[in-house]
Amino acid sequence: MEEKKIKLTDLPGIGQATASKLESAGYSDLMSIAVMSPADLAAIAEINEGAARKAIVAARKMLKLGFENASDYLKRREKIFKITTGSKNLDNLLGGGLETAAITEAAGAFGSGKTQLAHTLAVNVQLPKEKGGANGKVVWIDTESTFRPERIKQIAKAKGLDPEKALKNIFVARAFNADHQMLLVDKIRDLLKENENIRLVVVDSVIAHFRAEYVGRGMLADRQQKLNRHMHDLMRIAQAHNLAVYITNQVMANPAVMFGDPTTPIGGHIIAHGSTYRLYLRKGKKDARVAKLIDSPNLPEAECVFYITDKGISDQPS
Ligand code: GTP
Ligand code: MG
Repeated sequence: MEEKKIKLTDLPGIGQATASKLESAGYSDLMSIAVMSPADLAAIAEINEGAARKAIVAARKMLKLGFENASDYLKRREKIFKITTGSKNLDNLLGGGLETAAITEAAGAFGSGKTQLAHTLAVNVQLPKEKGGANGKVVWIDTESTFRPERIKQIAKAKGLDPEKALKNIFVARAFNADHQMLLVDKIRDLLKENENIRLVVVDSVIAHFRAEYVGRGMLADRQQKLNRHMHDLMRIAQAHNLAVYITNQVMANPAVMFGDPTTPIGGHIIAHGSTYRLYLRKGKKDARVAKLIDSPNLPEAECVFYITDKGISDQPS
């Protein structure tokens, strides 16, 4: 793709002033325009929706979006890599580890290990490639104040990393409400512009604020619409920058289930369709946890056991 040579001002209806507005909002390349909705582009560039649609169509044409041959598709897929979870069992379940250019969701009850897995991933992504990492940095959007720097230090030390450096490689932000949470995703673009090698974005939990703020049936449509936009924003960043997104989700009782585990992930089809991989975590004996892969397009539904240990997620109990 000749993306670099084509400028935003080469698009119809986008002059220098409009291009500057877009660039300062973090939309600096053709791809970011090509994947926008006309309404979003119109709002950000302050142009009308008709003009926005024309610009998007032109960007897509220039990038030859739409159909691509399978060989180009494969080449794009070849850039994707996997980050180890620390457990071979769990890596295998996910087809090799946490995939970049994708969203992986972990849903489960209180104490099922969602946040502990996030802590382990935030250290593992910093490891060199041969150890299952990406020499990468992390953005952590914390909605429940459950990020623990002490835990990062402990896991980093166990993996032979400098604990202080490990902490410096993690950009943490506390999201105060759903709107703030969405705004923080926009802010990731600023870090990426500063050439920070972000390879993992954690949103723990993706749903808590939405659930608390949009209560009752009457607000469900609004909530789902916003959540949809949030999921799209996350996916766009994942794909445009080849980074892994890990989100956590809560579960609720599902009275329709008569046998087995009577809980289902929250967020309905928006989270279900927005996530590339969905893990369902539940407690086993002591520190053991069971992970189940649910509705994945290219991997079989399967289960595995892993452990929460002082050294992070592992195949062995501590
Ligand atoms: P909620 O956010 O409450 O929905 O739960 P969660 O799924 O995020 O659970 P979390 O990942 O916080 O898991 C908590 C479990 O991890 C508890 O059972 C703790 O005992 C265990 N845990 C936390 N820290 C450590 C540790 O340093 N060592 C060991 N061995 N276990 C730990
Ligand atoms: Mg948690």
